[in-house]
Amino acid sequence: MHGGVALTAYLVNESRARRPDLAADPLAAAWIPQGDRPGVKELWQEYADAVYPHDDLVVALRGRFIADVLGTALEADPDTVLVVCGAGFSSYPWLLPFPVALEVDLPGMAQAKQRRAAELAAAGTLPPRDVRHLAADLGSAADRDRVAAAVRELAAGRPVAYVVEGVLFYLPPDDALAVAALGAGFGGTAVTAVSYWPAAASGSTVLAGQRDWFRSRAIPPEASYLTNGELTSLLGRPLLDLGPEDLQRRYLGAVTVPESELIPEYVAVAR
Ligand SMILES: C[S@@+](CC[C@H](N)C(=O)[O-])C[C@H]1O[C@@H](n2cnc3c(N)ncnc32)[C@H](O)[C@@H]1O
Repeated sequence: MHGGVALTAYLVNESRARRPDLAADPLAAAWIPQGDRPGVKELWQEYADAVYPHDDLVVALRGRFIADVLGTALEADPDTVLVVCGAGFSSYPWLLPFPVALEVDLPGMAQAKQRRAAELAAAGTLPPRDVRHLAADLGSAADRDRVAAAVRELAAGRPVAYVVEGVLFYLPPDDALAVAALGAGFGGTAVTAVSYWPAAASGSTVLAGQRDWFRSRAIPPEASYLTNGELTSLLGRPLLDLGPEDLQRRYLGAVTVPESELIPEYVAVAR
């Protein structure tokens, strides 16, 4: 398992694997090899006991919403190219038939994902898809330029669906804004979906608990917060901006756990 911030990719993968129906991600459980899954489950339980027991709900809901948004974009234009920054062990390129996808993550994670994707494709668990893996530090302006150039070349004028899920808050504020806005340099973005923590929720007691747990696991606890207004002016379009209570209403018909007991993660969609 990779340590530091990459550890969070294992945690949220386990969250989706616990709720494959709600997440609409039947592939989630496959990403971690059988032998490593008990260790990931143990890590998840430790996190659940120390921070909050509902990460499966929050992560499954955000992923479900993003999958729906991507499905709509692909239906509107089957040539749409998918770009996922901070991809971790998410499954979108294999859940939806994008003609080509680019996944970006830190070098260790990008390598681990590429290796596992090849194994799963060879085993027939993943459908054959053209997925490129790019190692980049989204906190570096030079690397972001490299990502944008790679997307322009790959998309070659086709519309891009751009996803930044579960990563902006781990970047310093200026880098978080630059990553959210990166789609402007892709040469034609059909839809952008970013998840973020709103500044209004920065006093969340669940986030305070998470900071303590992160410190204990040597994950940097600093976080960036954004506002709807910042994202709206950055993306230049009105946003569909849904929080964990909105997403529960949308997919479960009612709020089962109030936002005050959850990581306050919002998903903003510009199209
Ligand atoms: C919480 S995980 C989310 C993964 C995936 N988007 C998901 O929702 O399952 C955060 C991911 O962001 C990646 N990440 C964190 N900081 C990064 C950086 N500076 N550059 C690139 N990727 C980064 C981590 O390696 C990890 O895969």
